[in-house]
Amino acid sequence: MTDGWTIDAALAERIGVLAQDRASGVRMKGNILTLVLDVGGLDPAARDALAASITQAGKDHPGVADVRIAMTAERAARPAIIAIGSGKGGVGKSTLAVNLAIALKRLGKRVGMVDADIYGPSLPRLLASEGVKPEAQGKRLIPVPNALGIPMLSMGHLANPGQAIAWRGPMVSSALGQLIDADWTGTDLLVIDLPPGTGDVQLTMIQRYKPVGAVIISTPQDLALIDAARAISFFDQAKVPVIGMVENMAGYVCPHCGGVSDPFGTGGAEASAAQLGLAFLGRVPLDIAVRIASDAGTPPAAQDGTAGQPFRAIAERVARWLDAQKTGAPIG
Ligand SMILES: Nc1ncnc2c1ncn2[C@@H]1O[C@H](COP(=O)(O)OP(=O)(O)OP(=O)(O)O)[C@@H](O)[C@H]1O
Ligand SMILES: [Mg+2]
Repeated sequence: MTDGWTIDAALAERIGVLAQDRASGVRMKGNILTLVLDVGGLDPAARDALAASITQAGKDHPGVADVRIAMTAERAARPAIIAIGSGKGGVGKSTLAVNLAIALKRLGKRVGMVDADIYGPSLPRLLASEGVKPEAQGKRLIPVPNALGIPMLSMGHLANPGQAIAWRGPMVSSALGQLIDADWTGTDLLVIDLPPGTGDVQLTMIQRYKPVGAVIISTPQDLALIDAARAISFFDQAKVPVIGMVENMAGYVCPHCGGVSDPFGTGGAEASAAQLGLAFLGRVPLDIAVRIASDAGTPPAAQDGTAGQPFRAIAERVARWLDAQKTGAPIG
């Protein structure tokens, strides 16, 4: 709700809670409350129930004699959102996000990506579309196409490369809105690469653009896992289901001697997932091929080689979870 409130704050808040971000132009004309309700994507029963609850809330409020609601269905349904999060930086969120998106596409999902890392965007590099500016139709951005077939929008496209972005919370939130409310025609699923931690972007994300689920990634050592637990509790509190945990950078095969070492330990994320009652989605080894391919804009999940295999297995589990959400079937 962005229009200026000319009504009592308590009533405004009540309508905000009921309508989420569907109500606009909320005003009093004399003792009549008027508003516009975006009912796009709601079935008739849900639409009528929402209008009835807002009407009732209005009428229950002192000084309101009647409520008039104009319904519009302009907003196209947003794609379902999966958020990729971590407590710590540098644990492989962007790498996982890109490879998961590609592997999900290979499983037949219509996937797009949003780079919500406003201060440190990585996706233009990882999806080989640095320097490409998105076009706009009216006020809506058109996602940038790329050779990997994953339409994508990133703050990296809106800012100049190398330019420091020093924005305060509200600007960050409105920039994120532009990326998510873009023209995602043809996309059913948006994989969102979050910045590390639980700041403004994450809050806006869960409050305004509620993801259907979150994937949490961590390296295996205790310090990273403590932060991962914090990210998990953040999503829990917001009632965003955590699809499961991924352990990254576990097990390093020395390219010289072939010996296996565990620079960050191993199995920590799996044990944490079990402790927290979460699904463990898979382990990605520390593999030079992952870094080289990712930096070159040819993420390993796009190829059939072994480096992409862990990402493909994780994507299969995520796809099963998504399909189970739709049918209500238990997740195997
Ligand atoms: N399994 C892996 N094997 C080798 N290198 C990896 C692996 N996962 C990630 N990397 C490399 O580690 C670096 C950090 O990864 P990435 O950028 O995905 O992390 P991030 O969590 O998104 O970081 P930030 O918090 O800064 O956004 C990158 O150079 C990436 O290529
Ligand atoms: Mg990143």
